[in-house]
Parts: sequence; C-alpha cells; structure tokens
Amino acid sequence: MDRRERRATDVAGMLKNIMINPLETGVDGLLRQTERKNRGGQFLFGCGHGYRCYFARLFDKPTRWASYTFEIAMLRTVHATRYVTPLREGGSLPAIVEADDLGLYVLKFRGAGQGPLALVAELLAGEIGRALGLNVPAIVLVDVDPLLGRNEPDQEIRDLLQASVGLNLALDYLPGSVMFDPAAGDRADPELASSAVWFDAFITNVDRTAHNPNLLCWHKSIYFIDHGAALYFHHNWQDVKQMASTPFAPIRKHVLLPWASKIPDADARLRPLLTKSVFDQIVGHVPDDWLLPVPGAETPSAKRAAYVQYFTQRLLAAPSFIKEAMRARAELL
Ligand SMILES: Nc1ncnc2c1ncn2[C@@H]1O[C@H](COP(=O)(O)OP(=O)(O)OP(=O)(O)O)[C@@H](O)[C@H]1O
Ligand SMILES: [Mg+2]
Repeated sequence: MDRRERRATDVAGMLKNIMINPLETGVDGLLRQTERKNRGGQFLFGCGHGYRCYFARLFDKPTRWASYTFEIAMLRTVHATRYVTPLREGGSLPAIVEADDLGLYVLKFRGAGQGPLALVAELLAGEIGRALGLNVPAIVLVDVDPLLGRNEPDQEIRDLLQASVGLNLALDYLPGSVMFDPAAGDRADPELASSAVWFDAFITNVDRTAHNPNLLCWHKSIYFIDHGAALYFHHNWQDVKQMASTPFAPIRKHVLLPWASKIPDADARLRPLLTKSVFDQIVGHVPDDWLLPVPGAETPSAKRAAYVQYFTQRLLAAPSFIKEAMRARAELL
C-alpha cells in the first residue's frame, strides 16, 4: 500500500462512525462515498491538510470542509520516528520530524525555553482559529522517545530532545509554503484580514506583526501559525479577570490591520461560533501534564475549567477589543 492509499484508508477508517460505509474503503471506495455525500449537498469532512490536499486533488476543484468538529474530535497522537531538520528561523528551535503515519510535521518542543505553556497556547489558539474557520495546519500530539535524535551532532538539539521526551505538539508541515510579506506585494482579502484581526485580538496574540507575520502562503491561501505567545494571561493567573477584558492595544501592530475594513462584520460572523461547548471540547485536548498547577487551579480539570471561564469572559470583551482595533486602524490610515 503506498502512502496515498494508506492515507485514504486511514481517513475512511476514521470517518466510518460519521458517514462512511466501513466496507467501502480504499481510494475508490472513498471517492464514491465522498462524491455521494457532495451530491447530497453535505460537506466532506477532512482531518488535516494532508488529507484536504489529497481530496482537493481527487476532486480537482475546491471542496468545502466542515472540518472543525471532526478535527477536534480526532486530535491524533503520532510517534516521531525521525528528526529531519531544525527550523533555525524559529526562536524555540522547532524542527521538521517524520512520524509513524509517514507524515511530516513541524514539532514544537515541550522542553524549549518557553515551556509547556507555549504548547498549551499553540493548541488552544490554533483550535480556536480553526473553529472560526481560519486555515490552521492540522495539530497533532507527538510522542518523542528518548532515542529520537540520539545521533544528532548538535548538542543543543540533543538536549532539547532529551528535555522533551513524552508528549509534544506539532503542526502539519506545509511544504513549499512561504511567509506572507507585504513588502513583497502580498495582500489580504478584507474579510480574511478582518477575521484575522478579530481572532488575534480574542487570543491576545502579539506575534502577527509585519516584522514577524506568522502567516504562511500555501496553495494560494493564508495559513495561521505560531500561537505559542498568545493567551499571555496564563503566565499570570492573578490578574485573569482584568486580562480577559483587555482592549488589546498591541493590535495596532497587526500585519493585516491595513486590510481589515470589515471588523464589525467579522465580529457578527465569528462571535456566535465560539460557545462554551466549543471551548470545553478544545480545552479537553490539552494533555494533563501540560496543565501545571497554579493558585486556585491545582488540578488539570480545575485548570481546564479556568481556561474555559477565561475564554467565556474574553468573548464578552469583544465590543471593547473590536472598538480598539477599529480605532487603531483609523489612526493607521
Ligand atoms: N506548518 C508549517 N509548515 C511549514 N513551515 C512551517 C510550519 N510551521 C512553521 N514553519 C516554519 O518554521 C518557522 C518557525 O516556526 P514558528 O514560527 O512556529 O516557530 P517559533 O519558534 O515559535 O518562531 P518565532 O521565532 O516566531 O517565535 C516559521 O517561520 C516557518 O518558516
Ligand atoms: Mg514564528
């Protein structure tokens, strides 16, 4: 079975509880079933960009994806089998790794200087982005075992791998993607730019500036990456209430702010997509050992509840953060 077939069968297996006849697997079976679904006016479910890309190629036309619920339900754990190369441009020394599903991923290490909170932010913010319909490379948990990279000549990398044995986080690797660069003439559609501004204000993300956009252009779409510095409230749980209501002044440096001419529309569209049950589901995917105790939330489940409460409060601050974003934009123009 080649990689393509393996992926298709894999997807068929994962989809069987939702819509698929388990006997009709393989590339052809899957094709027949997905075509039937599309004719029936329903959307095809996907579970990662590898798969999306694969289906898009099969259909040879844009396919709409109701991927969010399914992807969340399917957050997978893979095992890293090969350390391919470090991504030196990333401050946390992420790396491309191969996993036992034969996929390539960008691995963010738990043992990096930023610690597990960066992975928590990456997972929570990334999945919130996906819930809002934004392109975020599929997120997986990655098990790193002590033997990975044992032959790496670089001591810094070996130390990082040793400090990261256990569960880490990775994003589907987007081969051939390039960073969004306004100076090189890249432009964003007003609807997408407005959604991006809303999203980054919601998750208090300071890492979407012209200097460091963390937006990848891939197959003519923009993908959102690097959310490790978002949700900065979780470095200081004392001031959670106040932080949840911040208008978020750093939005003035957002790389897409110049194009974000439809912020009120984005607010009307996006706010209803975030509900307590969406937050519960997303927070439920954070591994227990990333949820270190803080005063007032000593156990993983208490900490999950605290995150959900924060998000619920943050949503109530939407009028204030969109006002700030529009004010900052008016100043910019
Ligand atoms: N899913 C992906 N597919 C392809 N390339 C990626 C992907 N994720 C990250 N990269 C590349 O790796 C670089 C580093 O990744 P990322 O920004 O997530 O790391 P970081 O250590 O948090 O970086 P920073 O220095 O911005 O804090 C990105 O600038 C991008 O070039
Ligand atoms: Mg980055």
